[in-house]
Amino acid sequence: MYSNTETQSLQSAGKTFLANPFTGITDIFQLNLLKEVLRFHEYRYYVLNDPLISDTEYDQLYKQLEAIEKTYPAWITSDSPTQRVGSSLNQGFQTVAHLVPMLSLDNSYNADDLNDFDRKARELSSSDSITYCIEPKFDGASISLIYENDLLVRAITRGDGIAGEDITNNIKQIRSIPLKAKFSNYGIQQIEIRGEVIMSKNSFHRYNEQLTAQGLAPLANPRNAASGSLRMKDPREVGNRNLDAFLYHVSYYQSINGEPVAELSTHAGSLQLLWDLGFKSPQKEKRISEGIQGVIDYCLEFESVRDNLDYEIDGMVVKVNSLAQQDQLGMTSHHPRWAIAFKFKARQATTFLRGVEFQVGRTGAVTPVAKLDPVYLAGVTVSSISMHNEEYIREKDLKLGDQVLIERAGDVIPQIVKSLPELRTGTEISIQFPKECPVCKSQLFKEETEAVWRCINIECEAQVVERMIHFVSKDAMDIKSFGEANVRKFYELGLLKDIPGIYKLSFDAVSKLEGFGKKSIDNLQAAIEASKQQPLHRLIYGLGIRFVGETTAKTLANAVEQVYDFHSMDEAALLGLEDVGVKVAKSIHQFFQNEQNMQMLHELEELGLQIKNTKKESSGKDSLGGQTFLFTGTLTRLKRSDAEQMVEDNGGKLLSGVSSKLNYLVVGEDAGSKLEKAKKIGSIRILSEEEFLNLIEQNQ
Ligand code: IVH
Repeated sequence: MYSNTETQSLQSAGKTFLANPFTGITDIFQLNLLKEVLRFHEYRYYVLNDPLISDTEYDQLYKQLEAIEKTYPAWITSDSPTQRVGSSLNQGFQTVAHLVPMLSLDNSYNADDLNDFDRKARELSSSDSITYCIEPKFDGASISLIYENDLLVRAITRGDGIAGEDITNNIKQIRSIPLKAKFSNYGIQQIEIRGEVIMSKNSFHRYNEQLTAQGLAPLANPRNAASGSLRMKDPREVGNRNLDAFLYHVSYYQSINGEPVAELSTHAGSLQLLWDLGFKSPQKEKRISEGIQGVIDYCLEFESVRDNLDYEIDGMVVKVNSLAQQDQLGMTSHHPRWAIAFKFKARQATTFLRGVEFQVGRTGAVTPVAKLDPVYLAGVTVSSISMHNEEYIREKDLKLGDQVLIERAGDVIPQIVKSLPELRTGTEISIQFPKECPVCKSQLFKEETEAVWRCINIECEAQVVERMIHFVSKDAMDIKSFGEANVRKFYELGLLKDIPGIYKLSFDAVSKLEGFGKKSIDNLQAAIEASKQQPLHRLIYGLGIRFVGETTAKTLANAVEQVYDFHSMDEAALLGLEDVGVKVAKSIHQFFQNEQNMQMLHELEELGLQIKNTKKESSGKDSLGGQTFLFTGTLTRLKRSDAEQMVEDNGGKLLSGVSSKLNYLVVGEDAGSKLEKAKKIGSIRILSEEEFLNLIEQNQ
């Protein structure tokens, strides 16, 4: 980033400022030099971990700049080192579209998986051997940064991969992320970079010490600490957390002359370019390997030093180095075919199995949950683990009082690996599976082909509540601020008894409960109202039909005009749909033959829910799937009528005013009251003309 000569001259300029403090403005050159000196020392400290001056000296330089900017506010520039510190609190976070969707990665766990990946990549790209670039898989929160004309203009969370939340003010607090980087030196006008915000193990421990000293609960692990920081209201609080960021992927760029940028023609080249511009890219940690054997070796080598690093990683990422080859390989709807994550083996621990709780789920399945002596494992304290079913308990020979070996699969979901019978003392007691539902006391049943015992009383309180929790959940109807706790509370108080009851909730009664002020009631009401417009596939998923996950729900929604059509479909017709097998078809058929369920759907329609497949109604291309659009302000690249036509051609709908029914507001120059109103509503995605065009382009 800085040559030796530059390093020497910036170091000596800093010393000069310290010796002769800069108080009055003599010329702009001096001011720019002071900023450059501060940037240089930030880089030395935060990116290289190799400071050249003391913290006190840095503070003195920083204060000089602050004082000058106070006297001459007109001279403040957005890339000034003082501009990281936000003066105001974040007022909600606007949803913004990514320039390119943020995909996730496919996983591999061993050498065989990596060999398979390599074989497929070679077949698809017709090459004998592929050059790979391997780097750590950082365990934090992913972000996307956009730089335009060398300045950081936007930082966005991953969100649903298509759009995330604008967290620019918070990201500016991370000092290893440059506010300004000379992309123009490479002929780049706009660039989107992906990376991971992390908290180092050291910062995590220091931060938790601070919390406990203040009598506050410590954070669970560095990953939660990082991801929980991104959406904090107070940017200064983000600054206190001492976060860091690794940037590892260029997802999009636009060059000034429209030509490809040579440095970005390989992944390793991108890492080098980012490093040269002052970003913390895994430049030192990466390795290039010709062929897969070197990849396998490096993955295993890195696994053995994982605990010596000052940051958490949960594996390695293997990427095809050449971008031309990456393009050849392309991607599935979830992940690129040119990259794969290599997940490390789970960390393990032993603890005592003290008790079992039997929980009844939404479909009546009774799940035994092991209660354990709390034990720290891969970043979190584990005290209960699902044991799935009776067979699991028998197979693993689990008894109360046993010592058990546990691990977190993929460092996430805790599971019992086995019991340790050699450590038994003779006081252990075998686990008895109940014959009756622990909630409604009705007899439990088990089908011959299944391992699960079920309560088949669909009125069983536990099931009713779990069904409602599922219905309001994020992936189903996404009724924000409703959530599990409120469902349970309203049910216990008799304010809610079934799914249609969600839309008949008495806000008057809720307002009398503790903790429900006007604002939270307004939010709840708005969220319930907004959910009525959710597309049919979310409603179908929300119904909680056994075996119907999100993907099947989408297939089902696309196959009908409206939800009632399923009532007249037999199992054979359902079997004709993509991904619907015998078990699934039977379950769907049963659900829609049930009179009570059909009555519930009619009631939901009367309450205003969307039971029609809006996507199907639109003609031509339907990739915008019935989403609603409105344009405001002056568009500079498109004629308004052409833009509107594009929406309709792609299956979207136009609205004439801003309301909670609006999905996207496309904002041109000099946008006024419509923009303000949309911001207030909060759920509307605000797009620039450029972002709108990208969205259309992605849908082609
Ligand atoms: S590349 C299109 N590289 O892992 C490929 N991802 O499980 C973009 N991650 O969503 C991802 N370290 O948040 C890539 N060196 C690395 C990574 C990395 C961590 C995260 C990222 C991604 C997730 C996928």
